[in-house]
Amino acid sequence: MILLNQAYIQQALPQGRALVFDEIDSTNEYLLQHYQSLPSGSLCLAETQTAGRGRRGRKWYSPVGENLYFSMLWHYKSTNLSQISSLSLLVALVIAETFEELKVEDIQIKWPNDIYYQGKKMGGILNESRIDQSGFYLVIGIGLNLAMSSVDPNIVTQAWSDLSEYQLDRNQIATVLARRLQQTLSEFEQQGFAPFLERWYKFDIYYQQAVRLITENAEIHGISQGINDKGELLLERDGKIETFAIGEISLRSN
Ligand code: ATP
Ligand code: BTN
Repeated sequence: MILLNQAYIQQALPQGRALVFDEIDSTNEYLLQHYQSLPSGSLCLAETQTAGRGRRGRKWYSPVGENLYFSMLWHYKSTNLSQISSLSLLVALVIAETFEELKVEDIQIKWPNDIYYQGKKMGGILNESRIDQSGFYLVIGIGLNLAMSSVDPNIVTQAWSDLSEYQLDRNQIATVLARRLQQTLSEFEQQGFAPFLERWYKFDIYYQQAVRLITENAEIHGISQGINDKGELLLERDGKIETFAIGEISLRSN
């Protein structure tokens, strides 16, 4: 196994510091603990996480091996944060386009934060934030199953996949992803999500398919019609389009 190489990643990072750990609780947690002392763009990577997390208190299975556990800190000086919820969609798009550039086929995005390969979950995104007097700090967390031979079924409770057949170089993926993310986050800060909307459709796993939305107290059925420029899901029901904001919602095929 080729280990993550801090010096290599650091020299390829346009801004920020690169920190690589053999083992950590969570790469997101590390950046949330240290955001005040690290420059924007800093990256935290680990070979394994003992408390990797997903959305809504779920766990992210993080074995030692060839997976990627990647978090990036981004400091927003602007206080116009109305579009911040669409950021996980933007990050998903950056991941999908990075793999496309590397000739990995059949990557899709499931709104709002999942990366699928061959129709099964291969990766996920968890954005967390802190606000203080100097601004808004975002931690973008990405888990990608680049190579994973088995899982703990108590943690991974749904179909999963990995990219082991591609034998990808983790140091290369980490640096390409970090560069693209930094570039895209700067563009997003100036222009919001709207300019990226068209690029989303190509990867949208359920576009124009029957789906169900699982909310806390209901299941809503309809046809997925993609997303709008706020990153909200467009659901067609009885010929009308309804919008659903990112939040406590899970999207499933019907
Ligand atoms: P949704 O966001 O639509 O609710 P979800 O069910 O995938 O989707 P998330 O919170 O996004 O929920 O992701 C956490 C889930 O991902 C866990 O409950 C687990 O089933 C699954 N999971 C955990 N680790 C991995 C992994 N390494 N690879 C694939 N799936 C994983
Ligand atoms: C999800 O699908 O719910 C999101 C999973 C996000 C996992 C990544 S792994 C790197 C970073 N550190 C964490 O603890 N979580 C994210």
